[in-house]
Amino acid sequence: MDASTLSEFQLLFPLAQRCILLIFVGLWLWVWQLTIFYKGFHVDISQLVPSSDPSEFVPRSSAKKQLEATRATVIQITKIILPWHIATCFLLQQCNSDQTYAPDAWLVCLLNVQPVCQFITIFAVIFTNSPMVSRCFRNILCFGNIEPRPLRNNYIIITDSLTSYAKPLIDFGLYMCHLLLDPLSEKCIASRSSLGIAINLDLMIGISPVMLRLLQCLREWKRSRSAEEAKSALFNAIKYSLNFPILMCTVYSRTYPTEKPAKYVYWFMLMNSTYGFWWDLTMDWNLGMFNFSFAGMDRNESLRSRRIFPKPAYYLAICIDFALRFVWLWEAMSGRSVFEGEINIFFLQALELFRRWVWLFIKLESEAVNAEVPDKVQD
Ligand SMILES: *[C@@H]1O[C@H](CO)[C@@H](O)[C@H](O)[C@H]1NC(C)=O
Ligand SMILES: *[C@@H]1O[C@H](CO)[C@@H](O)[C@H](O)[C@H]1NC(C)=O
Ligand SMILES: *[C@@H]1O[C@H](CO)[C@@H](O)[C@H](O)[C@H]1NC(C)=O
Repeated sequence: MDASTLSEFQLLFPLAQRCILLIFVGLWLWVWQLTIFYKGFHVDISQLVPSSDPSEFVPRSSAKKQLEATRATVIQITKIILPWHIATCFLLQQCNSDQTYAPDAWLVCLLNVQPVCQFITIFAVIFTNSPMVSRCFRNILCFGNIEPRPLRNNYIIITDSLTSYAKPLIDFGLYMCHLLLDPLSEKCIASRSSLGIAINLDLMIGISPVMLRLLQCLREWKRSRSAEEAKSALFNAIKYSLNFPILMCTVYSRTYPTEKPAKYVYWFMLMNSTYGFWWDLTMDWNLGMFNFSFAGMDRNESLRSRRIFPKPAYYLAICIDFALRFVWLWEAMSGRSVFEGEINIFFLQALELFRRWVWLFIKLESEAVNAEVPDKVQD
């Protein structure tokens, strides 16, 4: 095996555990967001993101109940996952502490299956506690199915969050590949499988959430009943299809590594980020700043006339979204990164999660404002 020792960071945050930890952090961010909406702004998220089927004859859960149920689930997961993570790191340390003696095979095996067991446990707890999340996941994985309003928000939130988890999921996929090929390696949970990269497994996993979201847009386009709806779904689909040229460039440069990296991949990435940024502000957040339609120019306002949050919150959200969407550009131009190596990769994954959290704040707020005026409901 390779003689390189694991760094402190890799021992505390082994590759496969990072995905688990980010899911865990994401769950807490969601609870926190529900709390802020409920306690701070009295917005009833349970109306926007229903946790039970609206057509079934059950009383709709209130905001308070939804918050309590969500919090209970996440606390339950915390109690299981945190000690488990610490135990896994301890085991990893044990298996890698002595360079002269190979650790027992059974111990290494036990260590290497921990992340996948934790992954299954998290989703088992969520699915047993929330039939709605389970239903959405089942439908989404079934070639990007999506249900119309009032359940549409649930699907959008889950699938868009999945796209934000693409990079951690890639790492997890490479770990799984490593586990299948070499279950007795004591660095299995801490390093990437090079075979996985050779067969482009990372790209396939990375593109899957985007594919699902794209299929959802196409389904909505097919189902649309007005020209307005159709247009919106189609332009949304374009947003996700902008990922494909970047992917092609990556595959190309891997197949012909001797050739100079194509410069135009940066143009594709610039297009992806710019369009995504514009879409967030104009379509998802319904702000007037970059709304260049006739009606939008008439609007004559940089934000929205009806708002729930204080004004600076929107400008802050816009700055965060811009900065985090273009962080790659800053890195490419300055040739620097905030941290080095693996720490930087983890840092960027966490930032993307944060961006999604900020996005969701304004997205839900925009939905709430729309819902207040039923005849002005869009898309
Ligand atoms: C722009 O603003 C108008 C007027 O409020 C609105 O109807 C439209 O949906 C907004 N978005 C776009 C992309 O035109
Ligand atoms: C647009 O802006 C002008 C100048 O600031 C203002 O006088 C006008 O009332 C605004 N129109 C609308 C529709 O808000
Ligand atoms: C396109 O932009 C989004 C949002 O910034 C990003 O998450 C995604 O990774 C980008 N796509 C590619 C292939 O880089």
